[in-house]
Amino acid sequence: MDIMIAVQDVCVSSQWLTAIILSLCCFLPSCLPAGQTVDYSSVENVVSRQGDTALLRCYLLDGISKGAWLNRSSIIFAGNDKWSVDPRVSIVSSVGDKHEYSLQIQKVDVTDDGPYTCSIQSERNPRPKLLNLIVKVPPKIYDISSDITVNEGSNVSLICTASGKPEPTISWRHITPLARKYDSGEYLNITAITRDQAGDYECSALNDIASPDTKTVKVTVNFAPAIHEMKSHGVGLGRTALLRCEAAALPSPTFEWYKGEKRIMKGQGIDIKSLSSRSVLTVTNMTEDRYGNYTCVASNKLGTANASVPLIPPNTAPYGSTGSAHVPLACRYLVLALSSFISMY
Ligand SMILES: *[C@@H]1O[C@H](CO)[C@@H](O)[C@H](O)[C@H]1NC(C)=O
Ligand SMILES: *[C@@H]1O[C@H](CO)[C@@H](O)[C@H](O)[C@H]1NC(C)=O
Ligand SMILES: *[C@@H]1O[C@H](CO)[C@@H](O)[C@H](O)[C@H]1NC(C)=O
Ligand SMILES: *[C@@H]1O[C@H](CO)[C@@H](O)[C@H](O)[C@H]1NC(C)=O
Ligand SMILES: *[C@@H]1O[C@H](CO)[C@@H](O)[C@H](O)[C@H]1NC(C)=O
Ligand SMILES: *[C@@H]1O[C@H](CO)[C@@H](O)[C@H](O)[C@H]1NC(C)=O
Repeated sequence: MDIMIAVQDVCVSSQWLTAIILSLCCFLPSCLPAGQTVDYSSVENVVSRQGDTALLRCYLLDGISKGAWLNRSSIIFAGNDKWSVDPRVSIVSSVGDKHEYSLQIQKVDVTDDGPYTCSIQSERNPRPKLLNLIVKVPPKIYDISSDITVNEGSNVSLICTASGKPEPTISWRHITPLARKYDSGEYLNITAITRDQAGDYECSALNDIASPDTKTVKVTVNFAPAIHEMKSHGVGLGRTALLRCEAAALPSPTFEWYKGEKRIMKGQGIDIKSLSSRSVLTVTNMTEDRYGNYTCVASNKLGTANASVPLIPPNTAPYGSTGSAHVPLACRYLVLALSSFISMY
């Protein structure tokens, strides 16, 4: 501060400076004398990215003319005297025979945005050079919905907000498993979500200054079980029989097995192995009383499904030795059926 005052004292004493200050004042619209105009169509735009060093170019007419720089109404430099206390500003002066008097601003920020004036004071035709510094800011997502789990059929609203200058355009994309783009906007609203719409959603914020900023939200869609395969592999007495039940569900279903009305538990020659979406019941050493109607029940917190299949001796089977329940979607699994019975466990 002391230095500033000292500099000011020195400067004020010099006549040319007083002249500059008076003439600078006139470039401000508020105190423009009648009849005198500033040609704003000649304003030069200088675009800089936040954090970069901006260079506002200005050239003096000759070696004896003087210059000054203003930021709006405040003087930054008068000649080579620095009035601004901002350590980021400096003058880039003559190299060779060019009478350069450019203003350099390091680490520009949005607050530096706006009009600057380079005033040239000389014997003939003093005039200002008007510049407009435009500071652009890369897009940055500062808020996005967290990962969510919903039930199928729910309405889902995702939000993503970003900062940047110019204001970034926000767009949403379903990246996995379907690559689908949505209309741009901060909100992504999905009415009655289906299981196909589960997966990762990417929010992207884009403006013209940098590559887009992206963030991802994971949407999990829970749904009630549906049994899409239920098969038995009939065998003779003393042999090993297999029953397989496959269900689609999220969260993964729990399985229960029934023979008629009676719940079947592990043990006494019966084994039940359940993985995430599949349960296999194995009857080792088939006995007469174990032939009959078997039911698989798959359940999760959203619901329950069941399917039944008869387990019968091979010679009494109506079509070969395999019994099969009628369940929707079974067709596309038919090819798998026999081979996987053999290799599954
Ligand atoms: C220009 O003026 C604005 C507003 O007064 C200020 O925030 C900014 O720091 C100034 N920038 C420079 C480079 O002087
Ligand atoms: C979901 O949105 C639709 C259409 O906007 C509306 O009719 C329905 O009631 C909403 N469902 C729920 C569960 O909010
Ligand atoms: C999306 O949902 C939000 C909040 O649920 C609402 O404010 C917004 O208007 C909706 N947008 C559209 C395009 O439906
Ligand atoms: C199969 O079951 C029968 C009748 O319960 C029994 O006699 C036989 O020993 C069993 N065989 C094996 C291999 O467990
Ligand atoms: C098998 O059991 C289920 C459930 O108890 C029943 O709905 C179905 O009719 C039975 N099927 C046969 C062939 O007995
Ligand atoms: C099987 O599902 C039917 C309806 O789909 C239901 O009426 C029946 O009680 C279920 N059986 C079992 C054993 O859960």
